[in-house]
Amino acid sequence: MDQAEKLRQLVNIKNGKNYKFRVITVSSGKGGVGKTNLVINLASSLKKRGMKVAVLDADFGMANVDILYGINAEYSIYDILHNNKEINEVMVLTDDGIVVIPGGSGIKELSELDADMRKKLIKEFEKLHDIDILLVDTGAGMSSTVLNFIEVADVVVIVTNSEPTALTDAYSLIKVVLKGNINSNINVVINRARNIKDARDTFDKLKRTVDAFIGREIKYLGYIPDDQKVGQAVREQKPFIITYPRCEASICIHKISSELLGKSSSQKSSSMKDYFSRLLRIMGR
Ligand SMILES: Nc1ncnc2c1ncn2[C@@H]1O[C@H](COP(=O)(O)OP(=O)(O)O)[C@@H](O)[C@H]1O
Ligand SMILES: [Mg+2]
Repeated sequence: MDQAEKLRQLVNIKNGKNYKFRVITVSSGKGGVGKTNLVINLASSLKKRGMKVAVLDADFGMANVDILYGINAEYSIYDILHNNKEINEVMVLTDDGIVVIPGGSGIKELSELDADMRKKLIKEFEKLHDIDILLVDTGAGMSSTVLNFIEVADVVVIVTNSEPTALTDAYSLIKVVLKGNINSNINVVINRARNIKDARDTFDKLKRTVDAFIGREIKYLGYIPDDQKVGQAVREQKPFIITYPRCEASICIHKISSELLGKSSSQKSSSMKDYFSRLLRIMGR
C-alpha cells in the first residue's frame, strides 16, 4: 500500500467510514514479555484515533488487564455462563472509554460449551455490535486455547524481547502457527529494545530463522524501548500512554497503532457476534 492510500484509509477511519470490525490477538511464547502492557496502551492509542475499542482478557492463568488499568472487575465470562450475568454487568469501562471484558475462568470452558450455553454467550456478545476493534490478550505458550484465539484473529501480534529464551519461545510459537496453517498474518513487536537498531537486529534474526527453517514470512510491526516509565505506569495502574504521553514508549505505541490501522488484513469476522460464533465453533471441534 502506498503512502497516499494509507492516508486515505486513515481519513476514512477518522470519518467513521469504511472501517470494518477487526480482531487483533496479542500472544507470546514466553510469559512476562509485555503482552498486557502492549494491549492496554495500544487500546488507548486506537481509541484516540477514533476507534471503539474492546479488550478481551483471555489469559486465564495470569489475567491482569484489570490490574494494569486499576479497575475493579467483579465478574467475568464465567458469570455469564453460570450466574446469569449480562455482558453489561461483566464488562468494565475504563476512564478513557475502553470496554474491558474479563474472561476469567470462563475462557478455559469455551471448548466444552453445549449448544444452549453457546447461544447464551453469543447473544450477550451480540450486544457489543458497535465495537470497531477487539484486542485479545492471550496467555503465553501454545495451549490449544491460545492457538484457537490465534486462528480466528485477523491480525496476530507476537511480542518478544531480545533475550535468547524469549526469542526461542517466540520462534516455537510461530513455527506451530505457520506449520499448522493456523494463521499466516504474523506480526512481531520487539519489546524492551535498547534502541531502534537493536530492535531491527533482533527481528532480523528471528525472521532469518523463520525463513530458513519454515520458509515463511513474518512481518515487523514495531518496537517498544526499555523505558522506566513503563514500570512506573504499572505501579500507578494506568496505561503509560495516558500518564506519560510523551515518553519514548508512548511514541512507539502510536507508531504501532498507525501501522496496524494502515494494514489491509483479511477480515474474517464481520462483527463481534460473528467472531464469537466462529471462535466457539473452532474451540468445540
Ligand atoms: N518496554 C518496557 N520497559 C520497561 N519495563 C517493561 C517494558 N515492558 C514490560 N516491562 C515490565 O515487564 C512486566 C511484564 O509485562 P506484562 O505486559 O505484564 O507482560 P505479559 O503480559 O507478557 O506477561 C511489566 O510489569 C513491566 O514491569
Ligand atoms: Mg499479561
